[in-house]
Amino acid sequence: VYKVAIVGATGAVGQELLKVLAHREFPIARLVALASPRSAGRTVSTAMGVLTIREVTANTFDDIDFAFFSAGAQRSRDFVPVARQAGATVIDNSSAFRMDPQVPLVVPEVNPEALQNHGGLIANPNCVAAILTVAIAPLRVLGTFQRLVVSTYQSASGAGALAMEDLKKQTRCALEGQPVVPRVLAHPYAFNLFSHDSEVEDNGYNGEENKVTQETKKILSTPDLGISITCVRVPILRAHTVSINIEFQSPVAVQQAREILAAAPGIRLADDPERNHFPMPSDATGKEDILVGRVRADPSNPHALNLLVCGDQLLKGAALNAVQIAEALII
Ligand SMILES: NC(=O)c1ccc[n+]([C@@H]2O[C@H](COP(=O)([O-])OP(=O)(O)OC[C@H]3O[C@@H](n4cnc5c(N)ncnc54)[C@H](OP(=O)(O)O)[C@@H]3O)[C@@H](O)[C@H]2O)c1
Repeated sequence: VYKVAIVGATGAVGQELLKVLAHREFPIARLVALASPRSAGRTVSTAMGVLTIREVTANTFDDIDFAFFSAGAQRSRDFVPVARQAGATVIDNSSAFRMDPQVPLVVPEVNPEALQNHGGLIANPNCVAAILTVAIAPLRVLGTFQRLVVSTYQSASGAGALAMEDLKKQTRCALEGQPVVPRVLAHPYAFNLFSHDSEVEDNGYNGEENKVTQETKKILSTPDLGISITCVRVPILRAHTVSINIEFQSPVAVQQAREILAAAPGIRLADDPERNHFPMPSDATGKEDILVGRVRADPSNPHALNLLVCGDQLLKGAALNAVQIAEALII
C-alpha cells in the first residue's frame, strides 16, 4: 500500500482524483490533501475519512510514494522538483512538463511503453489530447495516419471548478432576466459559445489548439502528422465532444473501423443511426469510457473517415488517466 499526496485537492480535478482513487480501490496507506494557503484548515471528505487540507511546505513530500499534481503549471514548476527530490513519483496534470523530451506523456491505452524509464515524473495529457488519442489509436491498425481535422466542443469543467459555478450562475441570471456578468471566462457563457479562452499565440492558434496538436503527436509518436484544429468552449458543465476527420495513407473501410472501435479498450461504441443516438455529454458524464460514434465514410475522400467522440474530461481527460498511470506503475 502507498502513501499518496494530492496537490490541488480542492479543485475540479483534485476532487475527482479523490473519488477515482476510492472507486478504483487504489491501495492507500495514507492520503495527504494539499491546496493553497487559502484553503489550509478546511476539510474534504474522502474514502480515507475526513481530511484536513494543508498547504505545501518544504517537507510535505517526505515519505510520499505518489504525488498527484493538479494545481496549475506554476505550482507544478515550483513543487514538482521538491516532491521528486523527496523520492515521490509524480503524476502531473498540468502542462508544465508535458513537452519535455525527458518526461513521458502517457495515455495507458495508447502508449504504455512510454512508462518505462520514467525517472519519477510522468505527465498527464491535456484533456482533449487524452480523449482524442484513446478514440483514434486503435485505428492505427488500418494504416498510417496522414492528417487529422479536429473541432472541439469543450465544457466548463476544463476551465476548473470556478468556471463550472460561473456557468450555473450565468444561466440562472439569464433565465431570470438579470444581466449576465462573466466572472471567470472573458465572454458571456450562458446560451453562448466562443473560441477557446486560452491566449492566441504567434501562429494564430490558441494555447489549447497548440497543446492538443503537440501532445497528440507526442503520445502517438507521429511528429510529422498533419493536424488542423479549432477549439471552442460550449455551455456544457462537464464532458468534451470532439469531431475528428482522419485521413489515412490508403483507402479505409468504415465497417472495419467500427468493429475495431467496438473492441478497443476504454471505448464504448455509441453509434445508432436508427435512433439518431450518438455520443453526447449527458451520456458521457461520469463514465470512464469514451463514447465514439458517427463512424462514417468521408464522401470527399476515400482515404478518410469521420468520428464524433465524447468523454468526461474530468475523468479520462484528467483524474482517471492519472490514476490509471499510477496503477500501471504498481502492477
Ligand atoms: N479541469 C480539467 O479538466 C483539467 C484537465 C487536465 C488538466 N488540468 C490541469 O489540472 C490543474 C488543475 O485544474 P482544475 O481544473 O482542477 O483547477 P481548479 O478547479 O481551479 O483547482 C485548482 C487547484 O489548485 C490549488 N492551488 C492554487 N494555488 C495553489 C498553491 N499555491 N498551492 C497549492 N495548491 C494551489 C487550488 O487550491 P485552492 O482551492 O486553495 O485555491 C485548487 O485545489 C491545472 O493545471 C489544469 O491545467 C485540468
